Amino acid sequence: MDITVIGTGFVGVVSASVYASLGHSVYGLDVSEEKIKKLEQGKVPFFEPGLDALVQKMIAAKSLQFTTSYKHAIQHASVIVIAVGTPSAPDGQADLSYVMQSAESLAPFLKENAIVAVKSTVPPGTCQKVRQVIQQHCPHSQYFVVSLPEFLREGSAVEDTLHPDRVVIGATEDFAIDVLKKLHTPLSDTILVMTPESAQMAKYSANAYLATRITFINQIANLCEANGANILEVIQAIGQDRRIGTHYWYPGLGYGGSCFPKDVKELAAYARSVSMEDNLMVTISRLNEERIPKIVARLRKQLGGFEGKTIGILGLSFKPNTDDIREAPSTKIIPFFLHEGAKVLGHDPLAKEVARSYFRDTILVEDDKASVLANADCVCVLVEWDEYSTMNPQEIVKLMKKGAVLFDARDQWKKTDFTGLPIQYVGIGV
Ligand code: UGA
Repeated sequence: MDITVIGTGFVGVVSASVYASLGHSVYGLDVSEEKIKKLEQGKVPFFEPGLDALVQKMIAAKSLQFTTSYKHAIQHASVIVIAVGTPSAPDGQADLSYVMQSAESLAPFLKENAIVAVKSTVPPGTCQKVRQVIQQHCPHSQYFVVSLPEFLREGSAVEDTLHPDRVVIGATEDFAIDVLKKLHTPLSDTILVMTPESAQMAKYSANAYLATRITFINQIANLCEANGANILEVIQAIGQDRRIGTHYWYPGLGYGGSCFPKDVKELAAYARSVSMEDNLMVTISRLNEERIPKIVARLRKQLGGFEGKTIGILGLSFKPNTDDIREAPSTKIIPFFLHEGAKVLGHDPLAKEVARSYFRDTILVEDDKASVLANADCVCVLVEWDEYSTMNPQEIVKLMKKGAVLFDARDQWKKTDFTGLPIQYVGIGV
């Protein structure tokens, strides 16, 4: 089958290369010449485990090509996947302009019976809008517009796409359903067909539920801090209830990344737009935004202010196994330290270059974590990279200044492991 994926970000490049690996002939299309030139040489412009190798293999097998030409990529395609960005508009709703631009650009070249599948995260009602735009620019009316949400995680995007928990097809016409079912059958036994609106709500709800779960455990962690309970013991106990489970709610600085903050805000904005100002999503989004300022206040008190102090940050990416720093805790916490007169040293196993260009000369990104540990009055371990979590407490304390604060934002070590050692340990919910 000829497939075109529009947009060569995380979702686009991963989807294109996975479809190619199933034996289809795939085009990755983007308006950025620079990105396409790199991709043509097999260079993925961001880090994602296993992706470079898969892209290179598919290019060599001639199953995957990249282009900036809509005509070239659309005219033979049976399935066109729109995977462009949907940044947040100032009112918090999704800005659909890239989706609509793609729809307008592809419309003149659409062959009969082609399926346009919207994979970008968009609110219910978007498929009709896409259909209207295509209608104005397509010489025929024999095409389908469906929703095909993605559920991949950065850091395991290739695996998640090759082995998804489910594939959701939001479509009502039999032809489109049959084609998309056949396309995804090799990937999953669980293919769910529903209306485009349900598919779009399912995507938002999955992210919103996980974000709520994280916010919930962070709220419980706050209570534990006030009463001497240990959040990790609490999780262990409640997790034995099979309805609850111990997974996916380790506490921290709140959820980050390019998806949860944006998707919850969009759902909150959507709730407000339909006069549901008291919707839970409005509160979840607010609590997540308030989390880092509250934790900064705790550290400020512990250190007696940040003026003249050196703060070390271990973990600049938004989570392990990625160099993505969008909505990373580092990008939210560091400005407080800088604004209040501290010097900041940072380290990250993978995101050094991305962080250097993001923070420029406001912080010093070290190549070696030992320099951060040795020179800081307060070391904040923000991300649970293996490179950090495998260090033992003695090793850490040996490197740190006497009396310095170790802020373990991911509870990677036990508070009791530091008892009697010459540093001050601060965890979350412990
Ligand atoms: C998330 C979802 O997990 C994917 O299913 C979804 O497809 C994707 O968004 C998307 O909409 O594209 P991702 O943003 O890559 O994927 O990251 P997660 O691993 O889910 O983590 C999100 C945030 O929650 C991170 O800041 C992470 O540190 C935080 N988190 C996660 C916690 O604070 N505690 C946890 O227990 C788990």
